[in-house]
Amino acid sequence: MLQQMTIEPLYIVLLGGPGAGKGTQGAQLTTYLGIPRISSGDLFREHVRSRTDLGMQAKEYMDRGELVPDSITVAMVMERLAVADCVRGAILDGFPRTLPQAEALENALATQGKRVRLVVDIQVPAEVMVERLSGRWMCSVCGEAFHEKFRPPKERGRCDFCGNTLYQRDDDKIEAITRRVQVYISQTAPLEDFYRERHVLAEINGDQAVDAVFNAATLALKQRRLVGIEGQV
Ligand code: AP5
Ligand code: MG
Repeated sequence: MLQQMTIEPLYIVLLGGPGAGKGTQGAQLTTYLGIPRISSGDLFREHVRSRTDLGMQAKEYMDRGELVPDSITVAMVMERLAVADCVRGAILDGFPRTLPQAEALENALATQGKRVRLVVDIQVPAEVMVERLSGRWMCSVCGEAFHEKFRPPKERGRCDFCGNTLYQRDDDKIEAITRRVQVYISQTAPLEDFYRERHVLAEINGDQAVDAVFNAATLALKQRRLVGIEGQV
C-alpha cells in the first residue's frame, strides 16, 4: 500500500460512463491508496436489497437507467462520507454525476477546508460501454466485476475471489444500458468542464487493458504528487 504524501485528505472522483471501469479501477485504487471506495450505485443497490424506502424509490429510476434525484443521492453519499473510515479521504465512484451534485460536494467539503483533489475521467466509446455491460457478471457478495469475454471467471458463475455466485445486474439490460449511456452524455459529461476549470481533471483512455488503465490512473496521482513511493510520508 502506498502512503499519501500530505495529510490533507485525498478525495478522488471516478468519472466515466456506464461500464467505463469505475468499479474495476476503484477496487484496485482502494487497495493501492488505503482509503475506502464509495460507490453511489452500490449504496443504492444495498438499499434495494434491504427494501428500505430509499431503495424502493431508487429502484424505479435505476431500472429505467435514469438518475436518482439529486436530493436523495446527495444526502445518502454525504452520510457515508461522514463515517470515520473516510478521515483520510475516499474514492468516489459514480458520484457526483450532475452539476448540482458536484456543487453540493464542493460546498460540503469546503466547509471543512477540504476539496476534491483528483478526478480520474475514464473515457470509453459508447459502443464499448454497451459491450462491457452486456457481458458483465457481478459477485453477489464481494462485488467483483467479471466479463464473459474480457475477464472470465475461472469457474463459470462463481467468483474467483470469494467463491460466491455471480449475477447480472437488473439495469444491465439493453434498454436500460442505452438510456444510461444517453444520460451520461447529457447529464454527467458536463462535469468534465466543471473539474477541468478547477485543474483536477485527469483524462484517461479507458479503452485499454485493465492494468494499463490502472497505470494511467496511478501516474496521474504521482504527477500531482498525491502519492509517493511506499513508505514515503
Ligand atoms: P452505477 O452502479 O454507478 O452504474 P454505472 O455508472 O452505470 O456504471 P457501472 O457500475 O455499470 O460501470 P463501471 O464503470 O463501474 O464499470 P465496471 O468496472 O463494472 O449506477 C447505477 C445506477 O444507480 C444509475 O444508473 C442511477 O440510476 C443510480 N445512481 C448511481 N449513482 C448516482 C448518482 N450519483 N446520481 C444519481 N443516480 C445515481 O466494468 C464494466 C464491465 O467491463 C465489467 O464486466 C468489467 O469486468 C469490464 N471491464 C472493466 N474494465 C475493463 C477493461 N479495461 N477492459 C475490458 N473489460 C473491462
Ligand atoms: Mg460500477
